[in-house]
Amino acid sequence: MEKIPVGILGATGMVGQWFVKLLAHHPWFEVTALAASARSAGKTYAEATTWVIPGEPPEAVQGMVIEACDPHLPCRLVFSALPGAEAGPIEEAFAAAGYVVSSNASSHRYDPDVPLLIPEVNPDHLGLIEVQRRRRRWQGFIVTCANCSTTQLVLALEPLRRAFGIRAISVVTMQALSGAGYPGVPGLSILGNVIPYIPGEEEKLEREPKKIWGVLQGEEIAEAELAISAHCHRVATRDGHLEAVSVALEREAALEEVIAALEDFRSLPQELELPSAPARPIVVRKEPDRPQPRRDREEGGGMSVVVGRVRACPVLDWKLELLGHNTVRGAAGGAILNAELLLAQGYLG
Ligand SMILES: NC(=O)c1ccc[n+]([C@@H]2O[C@H](COP(=O)([O-])OP(=O)(O)OC[C@H]3O[C@@H](n4cnc5c(N)ncnc54)[C@H](OP(=O)(O)O)[C@@H]3O)[C@@H](O)[C@H]2O)c1
Repeated sequence: MEKIPVGILGATGMVGQWFVKLLAHHPWFEVTALAASARSAGKTYAEATTWVIPGEPPEAVQGMVIEACDPHLPCRLVFSALPGAEAGPIEEAFAAAGYVVSSNASSHRYDPDVPLLIPEVNPDHLGLIEVQRRRRRWQGFIVTCANCSTTQLVLALEPLRRAFGIRAISVVTMQALSGAGYPGVPGLSILGNVIPYIPGEEEKLEREPKKIWGVLQGEEIAEAELAISAHCHRVATRDGHLEAVSVALEREAALEEVIAALEDFRSLPQELELPSAPARPIVVRKEPDRPQPRRDREEGGGMSVVVGRVRACPVLDWKLELLGHNTVRGAAGGAILNAELLLAQGYLG
């Protein structure tokens, strides 16, 4: 099949670089446009970018000239890795001009007519696209990814929600430095240290799962009712967010049932064999000291969530550790998977 031309907004940043890397050999999409701020526009990608992610930048993009984030790019689909403070009006201008926008930014996550999508969890929320286009009189539309910590939490707990229902979640995160972009947190603040505060993060983690697990009723999402409490910490790891989670279920479950639900979980992206879908969305480790960021973040090409230490919790019902690659599944890889689902479901036609 002929590849679909795509653009990247915020291509020079940390998440933008992951888009460039993950799309370099994509079977369906081909990067034809790179865009960033006025600081970078007019320069080549090599001149404008401080490449900070593993591996070398793909040769094909190095000489491409960075464009401004105006909706005149030679493509129909754009991936957005813009800062939340800037993304709102830029993404709207692209959608109004007929582009499909697959975004990592938080600006439109809570808009009632914008899907907050994890393809394994709520693919039916794509039903909002028709509502969005009609209400806003747009040719194009916006689909968003969840926050990185939310994505891995919701994906890992989805099989338990389906099998047993979830009443309450308590989550403590240990989030990698790459989650703050580049240059991010100053070295002197984080070296040999843990910072028990990430602005806005706990609010996102307590809010987003309720929309993702909500039910599409007519033209609205009726949010899921459950209690979520989050503590977020920045730690001195490079990539891979670790989360210590306790969960209260609606129905009783045995340990073997909980583990079987996690291990057996497959969903629509696996059925459709989407190119970025991991064969096993959740990988359960049995060793007492796993998952670990450095050893487990590449599981499923960075698209799987790794769960371990599943055990009874004396306060809620069950507790476990989970790990996800924040800049792959939690950012660029997640937005690419969203776009693959859009294509497979006929929304890019
Ligand atoms: N890092 C993660 O783990 C992660 C996970 C999930 C979601 N996200 C979200 O992804 C987005 C990008 O994060 P990041 O860590 O990649 O940030 P970043 O490293 O700071 O990169 C920001 C990018 O946006 C461009 N930009 C900044 N201001 C702009 C403007 N006014 N107009 C056009 N382009 C502008 C920058 O271009 P210049 O180089 O020209 O300045 C750069 O390409 C954020 O919304 C973030 O919340 C990040």
